Amino acid sequence: MANQISEELIEQIRSTNDIVDTIGEYVQLKKQGRNYLGLCPFHGEKTPSFSVSQEKQIFHCFGCGKGGNVFTFLMEIESFNFYEAIKHLAERAGIELPNDAINQESSLSKESQQVLSAHEWLMKLYHHLIRYTKDGKQGLDYLQERGITTEAIDTFQLGFAPNTKDFIATFLEKKGFHPQMLVKYGLLVRGQDDSVTDRFRGRVVFPIRNHLGKTVAFGARAMEGQEPKYLNSPESDLFQKGKMLYNFDLAKKHIRKQNEVVLFEGYMDVISAYQSGVHNVVATMGTALTEIQAKLLGRYAETVIICYDGDNAGIEATYKAAKLLQQTGCQVKIASLKNNLDPDSYIKEFGGDAFKREVLEASQTFMSFYMQYIKKDYNLSLEGDRIEYVEEILKELAKIESSVEREFYLKELSAEFNISVQTLLEEIEQQRQKLGAGKDKWEKDRYTNKVEKSRGKLLPAYHNAERQLLAYMLQNRTIADKVQEEIGVSFNIDDHKIIATYLYAFYEEDNPESVSMFIERITDEKLRKVVIELALIPTQTDISDKEINDYIQIIRNESSTGVSIKQLKAEQRLAEQQQDPIKAAQIALKIIELQRQVKHLN
Ligand code: UTP
Ligand code: MN
Repeated sequence: MANQISEELIEQIRSTNDIVDTIGEYVQLKKQGRNYLGLCPFHGEKTPSFSVSQEKQIFHCFGCGKGGNVFTFLMEIESFNFYEAIKHLAERAGIELPNDAINQESSLSKESQQVLSAHEWLMKLYHHLIRYTKDGKQGLDYLQERGITTEAIDTFQLGFAPNTKDFIATFLEKKGFHPQMLVKYGLLVRGQDDSVTDRFRGRVVFPIRNHLGKTVAFGARAMEGQEPKYLNSPESDLFQKGKMLYNFDLAKKHIRKQNEVVLFEGYMDVISAYQSGVHNVVATMGTALTEIQAKLLGRYAETVIICYDGDNAGIEATYKAAKLLQQTGCQVKIASLKNNLDPDSYIKEFGGDAFKREVLEASQTFMSFYMQYIKKDYNLSLEGDRIEYVEEILKELAKIESSVEREFYLKELSAEFNISVQTLLEEIEQQRQKLGAGKDKWEKDRYTNKVEKSRGKLLPAYHNAERQLLAYMLQNRTIADKVQEEIGVSFNIDDHKIIATYLYAFYEEDNPESVSMFIERITDEKLRKVVIELALIPTQTDISDKEINDYIQIIRNESSTGVSIKQLKAEQRLAEQQQDPIKAAQIALKIIELQRQVKHLN
């Protein structure tokens, strides 16, 4: 479909969605020099090589080469098409789009769009029933009994599925949804007589939203001890428990801001915490934390506080999740709940403030938890077990980078087992040498090396001159005008010729000096990468005319000698064809001489 959104509007949307803020919703960015740096969301890496320039409104990964502006970032990370990216960013910035712009093609299949739409209708219906009707009163009483406020019922769009045979089936069929599809996604069930009936009945309904806030499944809780306690939608292409976290969409901006996330096991834990003012909360949905989920959290926050149930199963799950999160590079803390309570019942009993102060703020480091946790594997009244235990702890301690922190635990061990700190210190040094003790993940040198490597490839002087010159031209219209007058598009590298052509046209249309806007024009992905790389070349703010002239001169020399060398080579071939070896040799000498001159000039 044709572009129905004007360029001005696109420009307005682009400029109101700052690239650092927008990408910051997905990647933990740290300011480093003029740019922001983070772990690339497009390829696995432990040292950051993903760079975002606020000044230029572009991003670039020196590891995998991906780069672009705020639109291309969203297209890449959300698999959006251009219009979906526009729509998303317009919503984000509160900019209204003209009506006819909204019906652009979606990157989702027809079926997925219908599934989302069916879920949205149902969510609204269930919610309406619980909030405003007699039919939903039983559900409302249940939630209120559990201390859930109407405000939270609205925020989470909680609802009630009445205990009827085909209320929902009729409702959705009237809306034109195909029963077969509704059965496939677990909203209806097909009976033996082939009729379809409601699946969630007489249960309180928790909509499960994806990270964009779209409801993709439901969890429906029984109220009177029926089994299962929660009846969930089956997994589908739109709902995969291992890839999502409950409440991630609402929590993410709080997670970003606090650089910390609280991880729960249950829907109710999230809702309780959220309504009592702790907003950076998410939960897995009845399965163990997966690597995908751990990585997702790691991209958003440095610290993850695991807050699982205090029973044995909860402690085991805590250990596994903690290990996984640590491997992802997260700092892990563990919040313990007394009396085998789960977070929701703790908050109900002691209130949100106590939860913040006495549970979250008092959460343990992984090491303290671990020292406690593995005691179950040893009989500490036996000398042999005690030694093994201490060795096991030392192995873990050796991985801690901060010596202050290491010593803190060593002192604890020393006191508990009556071993001198000195002995423990020596032991741990050995362990660390074995490990080749790792370095800080934000280590600067490694980043700089990577960047230098990708930029400072040994290129011939004219190639570097062209790159430098284009870098200045991208930032400065006056320089571009001067270069256009002097050499036009007589760059020697083909990519550079094309970029210069685009750039001259761009400035002629009176566009501002904006790389991020400029790359919008360039549809060829390879070429776009080159532009972004050029835009990120460090430049001086007050470059002199002389330096610009020098670059131009180097480029001119290359093209003139380049041309004559080409010509001479053709003549040489001709001489050879004409069986004239002396002439051919004379020409060869000329070529060598010219090549020497070029080298000298450069
Ligand atoms: P819990 O049994 O801890 O549930 O299971 P909960 O969140 O504390 O629920 P309440 O407080 O009893 O209402 C933790 C999570 O495991 C999943 C759900 O996602 C639940 O939130 N689960 C549990 C199921 O999917 N089905 C079940 O039958 C039970
Ligand atoms: Mn619970």
